Amino acid sequence: MTTKTGLALVDRDDDGVDRAFRNDVLEGLAQPQKAVPARWLYDDAGSQLFEDITQVEEYYPTRAETEILQQRGADFAAAIGQGRAVVEFGSGSSVKTPLLLSQIEPAAYVPLDIAGDFLRAAAADLAAKFPGLPVHPVEADFMRRVELPESVSDMPKLGFFPGSTIGNMVPRTAVDLLRTMRETLGASSKLLIGMDLIKNREVLKAAYDDAKGVTAEFNLNLARRINRELGGTIPVEQLAHEARWNDDFARIEMHLVAQQDMAFEVAGCEFSLKKGESIHTENSHKFSRRSGSTLLLAGGWTPVERWLDSEERFSLILAEATIARSAP
Ligand code: AVJ
Repeated sequence: MTTKTGLALVDRDDDGVDRAFRNDVLEGLAQPQKAVPARWLYDDAGSQLFEDITQVEEYYPTRAETEILQQRGADFAAAIGQGRAVVEFGSGSSVKTPLLLSQIEPAAYVPLDIAGDFLRAAAADLAAKFPGLPVHPVEADFMRRVELPESVSDMPKLGFFPGSTIGNMVPRTAVDLLRTMRETLGASSKLLIGMDLIKNREVLKAAYDDAKGVTAEFNLNLARRINRELGGTIPVEQLAHEARWNDDFARIEMHLVAQQDMAFEVAGCEFSLKKGESIHTENSHKFSRRSGSTLLLAGGWTPVERWLDSEERFSLILAEATIARSAP
């Protein structure tokens, strides 16, 4: 289960089945509203499909956030200051990172990711782009407190969590993560976090149901993955991708909707869906200025600056680790 040896963090049984994946799927499919945690969307095919999504016309978040990073460099430099160790949570392929690092003269870069191969390749890439910048990749699950490398222990930290990934979590989980990040980063740290904004629901729905069907493929890939890795018999052709706006919770939900009654097996267990029932596969929460602030404050972070793209679709927020106060 550990990493220093280069072993993956994945716990597999004798048949090579990822135990956590099987547990999550079997548990999730046994619920009245079937649901599978969104993290399982990202196998190799799913990660590639997400990269493709970031290129489709309707999916604005990546372009909007990139625009902020490209255009507000001077503001970042002033607000963040130099000499921080930048700790990126779930760095993945780290495409947005150079835009930040080139603006703030960081003292070190610490990408955290659960996918070790990806992580090391991206870290090497970055080290080449920024000669002289110490890069210390850490293979870790950032949902838990992470022990940062000794060499950055005396540096003030800047957490970087772009992409509105925080929006994939329900508020309770998001708050847990924000608090955990604060523990990982320490009391004098700052956090630069991307949050997608509430907007016209047709624009939102189109971003999650593009005309070319790339998002549909991304969603359906989960059913294919279940069939492939867990011996599933889900009739994928009878499922349809749907992006729903849930106004009560201010979130886009992705569902796989049964086009007719179906019965199938996964890992030897039987399940069924009636026509119109669905498997809920992802939440993508959207925020207002206030709801974003409330979430951050609940997690122990005080927002201090906020930047939007020119079309005001997406926000990047700089927050500081709050000093505990007992006043009401
Ligand atoms: C990777 C979580 C930022 O919620 O917008 C894109 C994932 N899902 N299209 C998002 C996603 C469907 C994406 N994040």
